Formats: sequence, structure tokens, C-alpha cells
Amino acid sequence: MSDQSTFDTNVVTVTRFMLEEGRKAKGTGELNQLLSALYTAVKAISSAVRKAGIANLYGLSGSRINVTGDEVKKLDVLSNDMVINMLKSSFSTCILVSEEEKNAIIVDPDQQGKYIVCFDPLDGSSNIDCLVSIGTIFAIYKKTSSDPPNEKDALQSGRNIVAAGYALYGSATMLVLSSGNGVNCFMLDPAIGEFILVNRNVTMKKKGNIYSINEGYAKYFDTPVTEYLTKKKYPEDGSSPYGARYIGSMVADVHRTLMYGGIFLYPANSKSPKGKLRLMYECNPMAYIIEQAGGMATTGTETILDIKPESIHQRAPIVMGSTEDVQEYIDIVHKYNCK
Ligand code: F6P
Repeated sequence: MSDQSTFDTNVVTVTRFMLEEGRKAKGTGELNQLLSALYTAVKAISSAVRKAGIANLYGLSGSRINVTGDEVKKLDVLSNDMVINMLKSSFSTCILVSEEEKNAIIVDPDQQGKYIVCFDPLDGSSNIDCLVSIGTIFAIYKKTSSDPPNEKDALQSGRNIVAAGYALYGSATMLVLSSGNGVNCFMLDPAIGEFILVNRNVTMKKKGNIYSINEGYAKYFDTPVTEYLTKKKYPEDGSSPYGARYIGSMVADVHRTLMYGGIFLYPANSKSPKGKLRLMYECNPMAYIIEQAGGMATTGTETILDIKPESIHQRAPIVMGSTEDVQEYIDIVHKYNCK
């Protein structure tokens, strides 16, 4: 029997879904132009990730000569080039901030559009060589001034995000996206090369039963973090302890938190007083998705999306997830700050 009988002819692709959103918002179509370029970059990265072992793309950064004498870029470099090239040629961006680039990229005037994109082309790169899930993270802003684009235009708080999301290259490739009307998840169907809507309007549990943190750094934790974790392991109310899960790949850890509930923490510690994760292309897009799904994201004392960035690569401590879990952490921080 042919596959035709099982193929849904009314399938909702991400393009169709976002075109409808754009129509409702009475947009010009420029955001969709940008997003289309991003979907293509993500599909190309997904394909490179899936065949990385065979094509010899493993190993961090740099490039090497392959068996046929061609230069082969490693996955992280390739992903960065892919996103930059696709975004530039979409005629919808003016400033690009990448985890891989020291300075913001100003798009050539003849290719410029109104959007600013901050992205981490391949997050979790330390996990690439052992086949653990990795991801691409992005946040999109509008340029607010009419002056020629400048790196400073990108220093906007997460509250200004127009759309954000991530692609997770896990057991399947998933695109999680929000443009301010909730969170929707699209799975890449490799047979047709399209992202298909699989989870509409994802809403997080108010409270979970998983905590996610690199507990190897326990020696460097401050008192509130230690107290919070102790409460999760030895609950005073007789309830079951929380499970611990830490992949060490932010996209995968946050995606699990979004789907199952619970809490993800990369707090400041005595070795990393500002935390590790980068505000503009790791914390902000993830915090936006979590908030859009009904969760919370904080430094402990400040809401992530309210931080006004001072530099494009600045770090921020981050604790995010189910509202009751995050609030419990904030309350402990508050208790110590008031002492
Ligand atoms: O920032 C890159 C990253 O790999 C994140 O994806 C991840 O959450 C974090 O670093 C892991 O850091 P650590 O090894 O210190 O736990």
C-alpha cells in the first residue's frame, strides 16, 4: 500500500503556522522572511549533525582537510557560517550577534532589513563528539533607532524580543518557537524536509519533580543554592525527593524542563561569580520561551528578561522552570538577602 493513505494533506508546517500568525498581527512579512532563512539554516545544521561522524565533522572548531583534499569545517564553525549566511541573504536583518563572533556583525547596507538576531549557532558543543543532544538558540529584536546599525542597538532587554526559540538536535530535530502568543513545537519530518506542528500552545506544569544543575560545583555554591538543593533531596514535608537530571547541554536540559516541569539552575558560584551562560543568546531566548509557556526565569533577584545588557557576550546567573519551583528558590534567596 502506498504511503498516501496515511499522509495528512492538511498538515500544519511551521511556515503555514507563522504565516497565519503574521497575518493576524498584520505584519509586513519581513519576520517570516527572516524565519524562513532560519528554518533552512536549522535544517542544514540538523543534516550536518546527523552525518557528522561519517563526514568527519566532529572535533571542536577549526577546519581540517578531508580525504579528498577539501577543507571541512567543524560543526560549530559550519553552523555559525550557515546561520550568518542565511540571515544576511534574507534581506531582513541589520545586526547579527553570534556566540562565535567577538563583535556584532553589521549586515551590508544593500542587504539590510529591520531585525537584530542574537544566536548561539550550536550550543552544548562540548557534547558534540559523544553524540549528546545539542541545539541552536535565537532571539529576534527590532532595531529601534533610525541611525545606521551599531552594536549598541543589540543591547536591548529580553522584554523587547519579537520572536525567539531553539532547535534541538536530539533523538529527533525539534523547533520550539514563540512570537509572543505562546509556545509551539514543530518536529522536523525528514521525509518532506518540513517542520510539522506537534505541540500547540505548550503550557508548563506549575510544579515539577526534577532539578537540573551541575552539582559537581557544590563546593562553590552559595548558601541559598545549597539550601534549595537540600530541600529537594530531603523534603521536610514528607514528600518524595526530586529526581536529578543534568545533560550539560542547555537546550536539552531546558527542553526537558519545559516538557516535564521542574527547575534548571546555572547560578552564580564562587568560581563563576556571574554564572556561565550568556545573557543575549542563551538566557534571554530560553527565558522568553519559559515565560511564554507560563514558567519563570530569574537570576534569583532579578527577572532575566528585565536585565538591560551592557555588552553582547555578558553572562547571567539563571534559574528557570515551573513557577512554584522557581518561586521557592527566589524566596530562599530573598530570606538571605534580608538577613
Ligand atoms: O554554554 C554552553 C553549555 O554547554 C550549555 O549548553 C550548558 O548548559 C553548559 O554550558 C554546561 O556547563 P557546565 O559544564 O559548567 O555544567
